[in-house]
Order: sequence, then C-alpha cells, then structure tokens
Amino acid sequence: MDIPINILAIESSCDDTSAAVIQDGKVLSNIVATQKVHENYGGVVPELASRAHIQNIIPVVEEALNKAGIEKSDLTAIACTQSPGLIGSLIVGLNFSKAMAQSLRIPLIAINHMQAHILAHWAEDPKPRFPILCLTVSGGHTQIVKCNNFFDMEIIGTTLDDAAGEAFDKIAKMLGLNYPGGHLIDKLAQEGNPDAFEFSEPEITGFDFSFSGVKTSVLYFLQKKIKENQNFVTENLNDMCASIQKTIINILIKKLKKAAKTFQIHQIGIAGGVSANSLLRKELKDLGAKNNWEVYIPAFEFCTDNAAMIGVAGYYKYLINDFATLDIAPSAKTEW
Ligand code: KG4
Ligand code: ZN
Repeated sequence: MDIPINILAIESSCDDTSAAVIQDGKVLSNIVATQKVHENYGGVVPELASRAHIQNIIPVVEEALNKAGIEKSDLTAIACTQSPGLIGSLIVGLNFSKAMAQSLRIPLIAINHMQAHILAHWAEDPKPRFPILCLTVSGGHTQIVKCNNFFDMEIIGTTLDDAAGEAFDKIAKMLGLNYPGGHLIDKLAQEGNPDAFEFSEPEITGFDFSFSGVKTSVLYFLQKKIKENQNFVTENLNDMCASIQKTIINILIKKLKKAAKTFQIHQIGIAGGVSANSLLRKELKDLGAKNNWEVYIPAFEFCTDNAAMIGVAGYYKYLINDFATLDIAPSAKTEW
C-alpha cells in the first residue's frame, strides 16, 4: 500500500489562527480560532493579532492533529502562508512552521494566501478543470484571476482602492454594526428591500474595480438622512443593508460576466470571505444556469480564512517538489 501524503497546514495571515491536516489532497481536519479581540476596535489591530496567534497556534495545531487522528511522526510536510498578510501575523505562523519542519526533518512548503483561496475549490468534489476564472473577494483583496494551472495564475483585474470585503466592513461600521460587518449586512439584508435606496456604481474600464465611491455615496446619504431623522438607520437598517449589498454584488458580477465573455472561459468560481455572501452565491448560480457555465461556489468553511485551503495548495506544490528553504521571509505583498 502507498504511504499517504499527510500535510499539516498553517494559516495566520490576518486575524484567524488556523491549522488543518490534508491527506492525499483530502481535508481530514480544519480548525479555525477566530480572534474576538478586534471586535471592539472596528478593525484588525495588527499587534493584538500577532499576540493572539502566539497564544492560539499550539492548541490549534494540536486540535487539528487530534481531530485528523494523525501523529506528528506521520506528517510528510508542513505548508504555511508566506504572503500576503499582516507581517507580524505571518511571522508567527511561518516561524512556527519552520521550527516544526526542521525538528521533524520534513519539507516546508510556502503558500500564497490568495492562490490558496482559489485552490480551496480543490478541497471539494467535483474539482474544477483548467482554465477557470475566479473572482477572489476578501477583506484585503478583490481580484479576477485567470487560472491556467495550479500555480499558473494571472490577475486580470483588481481593485483600485478598497477591497469588496473592506467596503462591506466600512459601511457596516457606518451603520453601527460590529467588525467584521460583511456577514451582518448579508443577514440583515434578508429582511430588506434591495431597491429601497440607490447608490452610485463606478464607471471603471477593463476588469478593475473601485469601491470607495460606493462608500462615500453611502456616507453622504446617511449624513443627509440622519439630519432629517435621527432614527433613520434603526428604522431602515434592513433596507439599507439590502440596497448596499445589491450595489456591491452588482459591481462584482458585472465585471465577472465581462471577463467570462472576453476570455471565453466558462468554468467560473468565487473565493475568499465575501464568497460567503448569499446574494453573490445566488447571482452566480443563476448566471451559471443561464449561460451554461460550470460554477464553483466553496462550502462556507472554505470561504473565509482557513488552513485547509493552505493544505490543499501545499499538496499540489508537494506533488511538483516545490519546497521552501528555511531562510524564506514572509511578505506583506500580494504579487506572485
Ligand atoms: O478571506 P477573509 O476571511 O479574510 C481576508 O483574507 O481578508 O475575508 C474576510 C472578509 C471580511 O471583509 C468580511 O466582512 C467578509 O469577508 N465577509 C462577507 C461575508 N462573510 C464574510 N462579506 C459579505 N457577506 C458575507 N456573508
Ligand atoms: Zn483570506
């Protein structure tokens, strides 16, 4: 019998500490410790995030190994997020991974977090075929990526200012909602009218995005309405959320449609935290049915930050012997 390839994966690029065990490309465990400490600050506080990673990393790794029923001595390699992300947070996961790989005398595999969000599609069946176009939407990034192969990916569009998730979070803050507010807007939008209010959409050529205009238009709109009625937000919260969500998702879907048409690619995926959004998921499903696209929508646990996606990416790097040396440094930058 073949010896299984067991990869321990570690993700610590932002405010979630996560560890997963992947066996021959299949997810055996995927543990995520979400840091609650940032809620009071309306955003991630980098220094607090690094400290929380240090506290979380050992218990999270132990839980991932226990749940998978895998001993440290059964591990084949360690995959870890190297970039992009908060530098202090990345340092914790990367140094932990280097130390563990060295002590177990097994290879280290360095992973780009944004590529891993896309490769999360390979954690489930059916797996996509290449080429695939993927809209990767998270708290820090908004990209349309043309994926020719596992690690042959071209960014064909990106945001010129705020990321889609950032726009959700900043607007949620204006509405008095906790951080991160994307899923709260989604939840409140369920009971709201998406046509109640209209917010301007940007006119950006090509496949790039912009969300700062939407954010400003919501801000001015709120300032005006609150002057007229102090209770405007509480009285119209559901309609506001539904209208804002519709505007942001419309911007994303329009560009994705344009890219699919231009590149004539009909395998289409979404990835990243915002791919958990119910309207985005519904719109993509409907578009797929209408245009005969094969659409790939990740399970919720693989949308927001998780180590399973790092492990799946690590497995495909392991198969091509793409290992990192112990002198690699983390990088805050997006490029690959
Ligand atoms: O991928 P992710 O977990 O972390 C980053 O790499 O940034 O994405 C987090 C982002 C946050 O901005 C959060 O508000 C957003 O994903 N998000 C959502 C939803 N769930 C998470 N945005 C809209 N609707 C959701 N249901
Ligand atoms: Zn992410």
